[in-house]
Amino acid sequence: MFSTNNTYYHSLVATILLVLTFVFPSEGQLSASFYSSTCSNVSSIVRDSVQQALTSDSRIAASLIRLHFHDCFVDGCDGSILLDVDGNITESEKNAAPNENSVRGFDVVDSIKSTIEASCPAVVSCADILALAAEASVSLSGGPSWNVLLGRKDGLTANQAGANTSIPSPFQSLANITSKFSDVGLDTTDLVALSGAHTFGRAQCQFFSQRLLNFNGTGSPDPTLNTTYLGTLQQNCPQNGNGATLNNLDPSTPDTFDNKYFTNLLINQGLLQTDQELFSTDGSSTISIVNNFANNQSAFFEAFAQSMINMGNISPLTGTQGQIRTDCKKVNGS
Ligand code: HEM
Ligand SMILES: *[C@@H]1O[C@H](CO)[C@@H](O)[C@H](O)[C@H]1NC(C)=O
Ligand SMILES: *[C@@H]1O[C@H](CO)[C@@H](O)[C@H](O)[C@H]1NC(C)=O
Ligand SMILES: *[C@@H]1O[C@H](CO)[C@@H](O)[C@H](O)[C@H]1NC(C)=O
Ligand SMILES: *[C@@H]1O[C@H](CO)[C@@H](O)[C@H](O)[C@H]1NC(C)=O
Ligand SMILES: *[C@@H]1O[C@H](CO)[C@@H](O)[C@H](O)[C@H]1NC(C)=O
Ligand SMILES: *[C@@H]1O[C@H](CO)[C@@H](O)[C@H](O)[C@H]1NC(C)=O
Ligand SMILES: *[C@@H]1O[C@H](CO)[C@@H](O)[C@H](O)[C@H]1NC(C)=O
Repeated sequence: MFSTNNTYYHSLVATILLVLTFVFPSEGQLSASFYSSTCSNVSSIVRDSVQQALTSDSRIAASLIRLHFHDCFVDGCDGSILLDVDGNITESEKNAAPNENSVRGFDVVDSIKSTIEASCPAVVSCADILALAAEASVSLSGGPSWNVLLGRKDGLTANQAGANTSIPSPFQSLANITSKFSDVGLDTTDLVALSGAHTFGRAQCQFFSQRLLNFNGTGSPDPTLNTTYLGTLQQNCPQNGNGATLNNLDPSTPDTFDNKYFTNLLINQGLLQTDQELFSTDGSSTISIVNNFANNQSAFFEAFAQSMINMGNISPLTGTQGQIRTDCKKVNGS
């Protein structure tokens, strides 16, 4: 009798709390239904735009997810990478070392923003557009879908020095890369899963040519680079050639989002030094994660979706912080 009442009151309280959570989402918390009453079709607008862009640029899906990554690693996912030098912005993230002449897709983001403004003016942030475009890019390329958490505001500042130091470099050791992920609250599983985004897109010769001839002062190529693949790369990236020449990050299925990135690592066919290090660093806890993702695509897809949510949760501005930019390139009123 007492225990029945107790259960009744517990479920009543639980129901009230559940209702309150939906009516007043707590500040600082993103939510999949954030735009359900203000711009209910925002995900389909973004998806349609990415699909359209893919018809003329097979690389754009890869470029768009990379923008979200480079946004989130610098002062959180606040759209700061999108700001041009203008008004109070004297140094842009676009011009930071890891981004200049490398990140792309800004024109597509602007076009998505204009389409959204036409349907739902001044309610959807540029930071959320990057998160939605990342998911659309992956799912349209054959990868997993997930419910994107939304409600980020756009920042008022850009941090070029932060972009120079916080974004991982392809010349670093696994220990250094791991610590950059841990600085933003991401663990080793996140590192391995998110590196799987190198299953599509391109990289310039200058970002791996140090592996091809005289690696790390040894006078020989990187010993963890497959010799057959080495030959192909040496042809595509000759010494004193153009460092901007593009190569597929995943030579087996260049534009498809699948687990081939991980099976490549098993045969020493990771393109960047930092890719192959995940599998070839003696004693590293990343090796068994690579093996799991190489052997089980569903395990990779599940982990990838979760890690994208984790990355999208890095220090968002919410509630009264920040603003909804009208033009993703500029702070409002500048
Ligand atoms: C783990 C550390 C990482 C390093 C050192 C790294 C480094 C790089 C480099 C050097 C490039 C080639 C850029 C160029 O040639 O201009 C690249 C491309 C790319 N990265 Fe990463 N990356 C890392 C993690 C990630 C993560 C976490 C994601 C997304 C979740 C990602 C997504 C991509 C994509 C999709 C491309 C191809 C972009 C395009 O074709 O436009 N990367 N990355
Ligand atoms: C999207 O929804 C808005 C209202 O939220 C509506 O005005 C607009 O026509 C819709 N656009 C599309 C492309 O469905
Ligand atoms: C970022 O790096 C670039 C290239 O090394 C350099 O020119 C620029 O001054 C750096 N910016 C800041 C703010 O440190
Ligand atoms: C890697 O980290 C170590 C220790 O934190 C540091 O001394 C070293 O300069 C870093 N190397 C690179 C290439 O960033
Ligand atoms: C490069 O060489 C240094 C010392 O010669 C060594 O400590 C370091 O681990 C090497 N790095 C790689 C990636 O092999
Ligand atoms: C190098 O790649 C070939 C496929 O191109 C593969 O058969 C071979 O096993 C690889 N070698 C190593 C050492 O992984
Ligand atoms: C593959 O991974 C999925 C998701 O984690 C799991 O449910 C499934 O049991 C795994 N399959 C095998 C053959 O291990
Ligand atoms: C630029 O900075 C000044 C001084 O902090 C501030 O008063 C002004 O509102 C800023 N302009 C914009 C467009 O944010």
